[in-house]
Amino acid sequence: MTTVSTQFVPLTADDFRARLREALAIYVEAMRYPPGTAEQRAPMWLTHALRDGWRGFAALDADGRLLGIAYGYRGNPGQWWHEQVRRGLVRSGGEAAADHWLADYFELTEIHVHPRSQAHGIGENLLRRLLDGVPNRHVLLSTPEGPSRAWKLYRRVGFVDVLRDYHFAGDPRPFAILGRALPLEPPGGASVTPAGS
Ligand SMILES: CC(C)(COP(=O)(O)OP(=O)(O)OC[C@H]1O[C@@H](n2cnc3c(N)ncnc32)[C@H](O)[C@@H]1OP(=O)(O)O)[C@@H](O)C(=O)NCCC(=O)NCCS
Repeated sequence: MTTVSTQFVPLTADDFRARLREALAIYVEAMRYPPGTAEQRAPMWLTHALRDGWRGFAALDADGRLLGIAYGYRGNPGQWWHEQVRRGLVRSGGEAAADHWLADYFELTEIHVHPRSQAHGIGENLLRRLLDGVPNRHVLLSTPEGPSRAWKLYRRVGFVDVLRDYHFAGDPRPFAILGRALPLEPPGGASVTPAGS
């Protein structure tokens, strides 16, 4: 259960830049990547924060320390991820499938909760808050294939398969592209899971 002391706060791009190191540290721990990964990812995360429709949310403990982070932006032609997914969709389902999903979507780019704070509802809370009010028709994300807590979360909030076992250029791991229409249905009738619930 999300503890009463967990706060969920929207991030401006400036807030995000100020917390970049902290956010990357959570990402590296959550994904179990080697520590050097943070440095590699930093320029990309900074570039993301400049994109059209960027928004982020943070989960903080009572002392203001970051427990979790989620961000995304409007997906657009010319972006690497968009073009990779278009290629995969055209190959598997044709132009119509690509247009359906890619015409107007929000890319949920990153969502991570520190391992010590996982399994308390923080991830779902971040995801719901991040997507609440997003003006796009769809939300899309990519996640490594295989059972994980992330998969359970995405299924629980209604994400469906868009592409499975997809290989992004330069990455040997198979990924799933998942998506759904926006807005999300409220959990149990409330619009957003309240902090402290
Ligand atoms: C994926 C991730 C962000 C999910 O965050 P989380 O806080 O662990 O996940 P949830 O909010 O879904 O909570 C998970 C558990 O808490 C419980 N829970 C969910 N909502 C709850 C709520 N409102 N109150 C209490 N408990 C809740 C559920 O029972 C769930 O259990 P389960 O995972 O066994 O099904 C997090 O696990 C993580 O960082 N994983 C590693 C990194 C990663 O894979 N990121 C995504 C890459 S695509």
